[in-house]
Amino acid sequence: MCGIVAYAGVRAASPILLQGLRKLEYRGYDSAGIAIHRGSAIEIYKQEGKVANLVDSLGDYQNDLVHQQAHVGIAHTRWATHGPPTQANAHPHSAGDGRIALVHNGIIENYRSLKSKLEAQGHVFLSDTDSEVLAHLVDSHYEGDLFTALSAALKQVDGTYGVACICADEAGKLLVARRGSPIVIGLGDGETIVASDASAIISHTRQVIYLDDNDIAIVEEGKVDVRTLDAVPVQRDLASIDWSEAAAGKGGYDHYMLKEIFEQPEAIRNAIRGRIDKDRGTAILSGLGLSPRELVDFQRLLIVGCGTSLNAGLVGEYAVESFAAMLAEVEQAAEFRYRNPIVGSKDLVIAISQSGETADTLAAVREAIDKGALVAGLVNVVGSTIAREAGRGIYLHAGPEISVASTKAFTCQVSVLLLVALKLARGRRMSRDEGVKITREILGIPALVQQVLEKNDAIAKIANNFIKCEHMFYIGRGYMYPVALEGALKMKEISYIHAEAYNAAELKHGPIALLDGNMPVVALMNRGPGQEKTVGNVEECRARKAPVLGVITEGDEEAKVACDWTIEVPDCPHYIATIVCTVALQLFSYHVARLRGCSIDQPRNLAKSVTVE
Ligand code: F6R
Repeated sequence: MCGIVAYAGVRAASPILLQGLRKLEYRGYDSAGIAIHRGSAIEIYKQEGKVANLVDSLGDYQNDLVHQQAHVGIAHTRWATHGPPTQANAHPHSAGDGRIALVHNGIIENYRSLKSKLEAQGHVFLSDTDSEVLAHLVDSHYEGDLFTALSAALKQVDGTYGVACICADEAGKLLVARRGSPIVIGLGDGETIVASDASAIISHTRQVIYLDDNDIAIVEEGKVDVRTLDAVPVQRDLASIDWSEAAAGKGGYDHYMLKEIFEQPEAIRNAIRGRIDKDRGTAILSGLGLSPRELVDFQRLLIVGCGTSLNAGLVGEYAVESFAAMLAEVEQAAEFRYRNPIVGSKDLVIAISQSGETADTLAAVREAIDKGALVAGLVNVVGSTIAREAGRGIYLHAGPEISVASTKAFTCQVSVLLLVALKLARGRRMSRDEGVKITREILGIPALVQQVLEKNDAIAKIANNFIKCEHMFYIGRGYMYPVALEGALKMKEISYIHAEAYNAAELKHGPIALLDGNMPVVALMNRGPGQEKTVGNVEECRARKAPVLGVITEGDEEAKVACDWTIEVPDCPHYIATIVCTVALQLFSYHVARLRGCSIDQPRNLAKSVTVE
């Protein structure tokens, strides 16, 4: 949510900042801006809309002396929280007659009271944002030392921040700080590149430092000095980024989303690699750091997450209950800490998050830790806050997910949750033979997903029939219910079609009133428990003239005749069909959105990584 880039080094800052903003644009694309430090002045350039608007407005900046001579700068791409997406609300914000410039991710919760006090002192505000208040607050404390001013300001704010700040009077230097919003510092040769996300750094260096909450770093050409807010020096470990730049590019696909959908066989292989013991019919999850004894001691597994990660968690709940006969529950992370949950030392809490930065999930992690539960992260982004705070967990190894709509993270999350269910089950009542059978089935997932991907063209043709829809229902039962939820979520976020998911049994309890010839139903009716009942529900839908797209098992003629269109998926156990059918629905949403001309990788109002509540 919003992206920050900053640079201090020997090269001209502007091209590096703009290149970084393009990489981070998926985190927010309402406006963009840069501030560069040259001589003893700061120049600010900002525009409403995407980074391309900003670049256009700069013209031939590479040949402009101002840009050539500025070697320090900060930049931001915004996802609006406070105030509409206008040029005035774009970052960087400045204060002190342009002597201070600042970019900010997160939310300053007490900005109104701070603003009133600053206004009373004579500060004049030009935007509606909370971030501008922070710039003025820094200015109000400035007496010749930016570190002292920034730390004093940050001590006064409630809320979250990832922040980068420069001062016209302090050449060659920029300051960054974090509380609840990530900051990664890349150490290059004679230069330092800072970003809110490593994808803006990897083309320059792979050696990085992740700031912890309440750290401030003084960044100069190739040099970083990390301190606490009280100026106590702290050491942060150097880490190495192991994914390639190509992995973060589009690789010849029209959209990141399509690329990531097609990456799934490989991503799932990476997620399960080295984590399966075929002979013993169990999973190897050393990242959990739990002995077999500890694993059986848990009375309950609690899964928390948001959005797509929450949907994956539901599949995990079903799998743990059915494999391990163990109590499992899924909680919306956003609700968790506000309702004083009953959770304690007999609970294992798994926090699922692709980004590892989702504010609500992070808050749930902290609450569960405070209540004495053992907490593990199921996270994709290495070194992210949830991964670090949970202290233990399982990385997805899905590679960078750039598309705002999550695809490969979901299928990798489900794959790993199946391994968790297997591990918990083998420590309880599941036999070795049963375990061996399940390990074989899990190892077969990538090939099944590949078979679905081969139906891409056929799915694109079917999608043609849905481009004028305004509403849709998705229905499924048991394991297919979370798939319906995920299918509907994908459809609404990228195509802007209103799509609702129901357990197929729930239709008759109200929603069926909405069915008519203009309300298509996508039915998960592949073979497995409850299938006949879902087929029956489909008949009820068709009796109300609703057109039906069925996701069915290959060769299931009986299911086929009940539908207007079908996507046939390979036969597999239902817990694995959660992945297989989801991939089919990802392609379906993708093509509907593409045919409707939607901005697939950057859907309106959304941003990757929701770091505000
Ligand atoms: C939907 C989507 C979101 C995220 C949710 C949680 O396609 O991407 O619903 O799943 O914002 O994000 P993470 O997994 O990063 O915590």
